[in-house]
Amino acid sequence: MYLGLDLGTSGLRAVLVDERGVLHAASECAWPVHRPQPGWSEQDPADWITGCDTALSELRQTSPKAFADIRSIGMSGQMHGAVLVDHDGSVLRPAILWNDTRSAAEAAELDKANNVRDLSGNIVFPGFTAPKLLWVEANEPEIFAKTAKVLLPKDYLRLWLTGEYASDMSDAAGTAWLDVGSRKWSRALLDAGHMRADQMPRLVEGSDASGLLRQERLDAWGLAGPVVVAGGGGDNAAAACGVGCFREGDGFVSLGTSGVLLAAKNSFSPAPDTAVHSFCHAVPETWYQMGVILAATDCLNWLAKNLGDSPATLAQKLPDTASGPADVFFLPYLSGERTPHNDAEVRGAMIGLDISTDTQTLTQAVMEGVSFALRDSLEALRTTGTKLDSVLAIGGGTASPFWLQSLATILNLPLRIPAQGEFGAALGAARLAMAADGHSIKEIMTPPEVAETIEPRSDLVPAYDAAYAKYRALYPNLKAALT
Ligand code: XUL
Repeated sequence: MYLGLDLGTSGLRAVLVDERGVLHAASECAWPVHRPQPGWSEQDPADWITGCDTALSELRQTSPKAFADIRSIGMSGQMHGAVLVDHDGSVLRPAILWNDTRSAAEAAELDKANNVRDLSGNIVFPGFTAPKLLWVEANEPEIFAKTAKVLLPKDYLRLWLTGEYASDMSDAAGTAWLDVGSRKWSRALLDAGHMRADQMPRLVEGSDASGLLRQERLDAWGLAGPVVVAGGGGDNAAAACGVGCFREGDGFVSLGTSGVLLAAKNSFSPAPDTAVHSFCHAVPETWYQMGVILAATDCLNWLAKNLGDSPATLAQKLPDTASGPADVFFLPYLSGERTPHNDAEVRGAMIGLDISTDTQTLTQAVMEGVSFALRDSLEALRTTGTKLDSVLAIGGGTASPFWLQSLATILNLPLRIPAQGEFGAALGAARLAMAADGHSIKEIMTPPEVAETIEPRSDLVPAYDAAYAKYRALYPNLKAALT
């Protein structure tokens, strides 16, 4: 049995799968995000440990036999967060998360520094780890001085599981301290971020072993051991492993809280000017490019909350098939934007409201606005030479047939929809655990069964293309209006 743990922003998902990847049991737990000041987003790493312990106790109770057979563990985690620990591994302050924007000024400063983009292959986005440490240095110098190690969220969980300070390439790639092409910590980037090499965890590939489960954990969970803990991956790399997306030409689009368009790459092909992310994959000698939009289903959640409805009810008010773009445009920058604008300050807009605009039109506009933003990501990937002929579509937003059809048409790409089942980051983490146990990556990282393929509506492509051109023209005006 293989245990996959996905340490997300809202909670943890744990899955137990066998050596064929078949799901035997799963459990989940939730934890809060604290927002003590505008733009701040923090979590208490102790909540992750308690949550993980509770979820695993539940798995042990519901599936004692499968649990007792665990051979190795893989982890996936929310990326970029900073957990600062002292020499004893004690946490020095709450973890600063990926969606915390307090260090926007430090990020902009670091992004301008010599060679930073060249070595890291990425813009230093405000959510990345390096600027968070510059903020701590300036604002909490006594904590900065005590920082013996900086860990990413899942790597703090690893410390609890194994006692090891280690990270994997895919998560480390989102720190702005990694030389992403050479897959090693960069002295120059660490210097630029005022950090030292000894403050970094040891690096392993996601599919390699990072250590063994500690005796204390084996005893607590009644496991005989030894149990290997794999390197694991950042959540998007792990999700890519979960859907077998690791060869050039493989890609997926995710309509989750945030939105992602990811393309696997067999070489490091950075293009920071496009605001595309170029990160190491969780399997060796593989990278990926990714466009990230900061609010996808979050936009529908926002609309639903303000209309006093649920997102599912709003979605159900739309027909199953699209009939052309709405007259209202929605710019989905509720939390600022990464790809293609790298703009933490910009905010969203509804444009073209009419006295007759109703809930249905607003919902359509929101779904189309998010889809146009993902088209921006697709265009950004294309400018780097990346080609995608079709992509898998995953995430909560794919429950809406209308959204899927308009997204397929706006991207002008067939969307493959996985059949019901487990294919997320937790499964990807379990697959990395299997790889660390000696299974062949090619054999285990297979795509999910496809339930249906949503083709673009060729009759509507010209109308959506024209609407996309108008959408593109709106951002500079919005930016000017807000500054
Ligand atoms: C990726 C990113 C998000 C977080 C969310 O760059 O910031 O996907 O990892 O969990």
